[in-house]
Amino acid sequence: MESIKIGLLGLGTVGTGVYRLLEKQAEEIKHKAGVNTVIDKVLVRNISKTREGIPTEVITDNPNDILNAPDIRIVVEVMGGMEPAYEYIKSALMSGKNVVTANKDLMAVKGGELMELAAQNGCDLLFEAAVAGGIPIIRPLKQCLAGNNITEIMGIVNGTTNFILTKMTNDGMEFEDALKMAQELGYAEADPTADVEGLDAGRKIAIMASIAFNSRVTFDDVDIEGITKITAKDICYAKEMGCDIKLLGIAANTDDGIEVSVHPMLIPSTHPLASVNDVFNAVFVHGDAVDDAMFMGRGAGMYPTASAVVGDIIDISRNIVFNCCGRIGCTCYKQLKIKKPEDCVSKYFLRMQVEDRAGVLAGVAGVFGSNNVSISRLIQKASDDNTAEIVVITDEVRAGNFKDSIAILNGMSMIKKISSVIRVYG
Ligand code: NAP
Ligand code: HSE
Repeated sequence: MESIKIGLLGLGTVGTGVYRLLEKQAEEIKHKAGVNTVIDKVLVRNISKTREGIPTEVITDNPNDILNAPDIRIVVEVMGGMEPAYEYIKSALMSGKNVVTANKDLMAVKGGELMELAAQNGCDLLFEAAVAGGIPIIRPLKQCLAGNNITEIMGIVNGTTNFILTKMTNDGMEFEDALKMAQELGYAEADPTADVEGLDAGRKIAIMASIAFNSRVTFDDVDIEGITKITAKDICYAKEMGCDIKLLGIAANTDDGIEVSVHPMLIPSTHPLASVNDVFNAVFVHGDAVDDAMFMGRGAGMYPTASAVVGDIIDISRNIVFNCCGRIGCTCYKQLKIKKPEDCVSKYFLRMQVEDRAGVLAGVAGVFGSNNVSISRLIQKASDDNTAEIVVITDEVRAGNFKDSIAILNGMSMIKKISSVIRVYG
């Protein structure tokens, strides 16, 4: 075989990185894959846009130039979004083309169906870039760690929110100011909803949990909370307690089902994830044989993401050369139950303003006691104008019981305001 032809769907941040990296590494890739790889066509939306360094003859706005081209063996989808990416990937797989995608939105919802389609057609469908950009995690989970029973996987998998929380921690900035800075630096989108509301992290933890526990977890299964309510004051109090606040995607495989969530959490400053700052991502895995393992790096950006996509392209090229595509497909061979959010357990940090008078602490303790919520620490922080600020840290409690307690506290006149409710890891 002389060369393998590739069709690129999308030429934005990631697509441009993939194009340039394949060009720059062409000679190396020939040795690593045992064959030349050549980008034959590139699909874009706006064909009249200037694309520096890309020959005009490879650019098209007609998807059929790639999807119906019999000699294109690998389709790389880096357009993003659900449609038409979903239809294009299905079409590629049904005509026997191998697919690489960086699309977490799609894989977190339609991953099972697309992996099944890939298997039916004897194709590879690889998606290393869909989780944590340049950090290798999908392939390590499916291959290097395959000898483990993985019981927990968690991570900082959104760079934008990690940057915001780092600025709030190190510079005492409030959320809105840190978000503005992230937007000015080009880390956060003009519409930052998917990042700051935890949706992007939710998609990534769903994909990782499916592979780690060999059982399908989709985006809808993830209990998601973003970072918009976190204040600089919460971070100061966390620091006093020896903790940092991080947005963590966490999945645990427990005896009574899979717990999967994204929440801002207090995490001990001594935990390796606490020192992962700025736009960096990290994934922490616990397996019965390997014990703890952590993977860290850049979760986004042109070249870090292209690094993962090109790794997948090289892998598929080797499989084409050895005629063994579809060798490692879907690994979800179990059907484990997903626990309801209210049945999951966690420790909690609660900050509230209460009337500064006798009987208030007893009242708060009474509500928790009657809902089976055990208090680990209760600290009165400050008082003025007959108002005291108290911070409660609970032991591990069922989320439903904690939520019931909060609903009762909210209705009590002695409680002036509940300012923060944040989960505590560990
Ligand atoms: P982007 O910069 O917005 O680029 C999207 C590209 O796709 C553009 O070239 C656009 O064409 C093309 N496109 C979009 N819709 C199209 C359609 N309907 N028909 C034809 N072409 C279409 O996006 P990106 O940041 O590169 O992200 C691509 C994918 O990688 C997404 O799934 C994203 O979640 C994932 N990802 C991105 C990063 C990152 O750091 N950016 C990291 C990890 C994963 P025009 O150029 O004509 O507009
Ligand atoms: N928006 C994501 C982040 C990068 O901030 O990490 C793409 O997954």
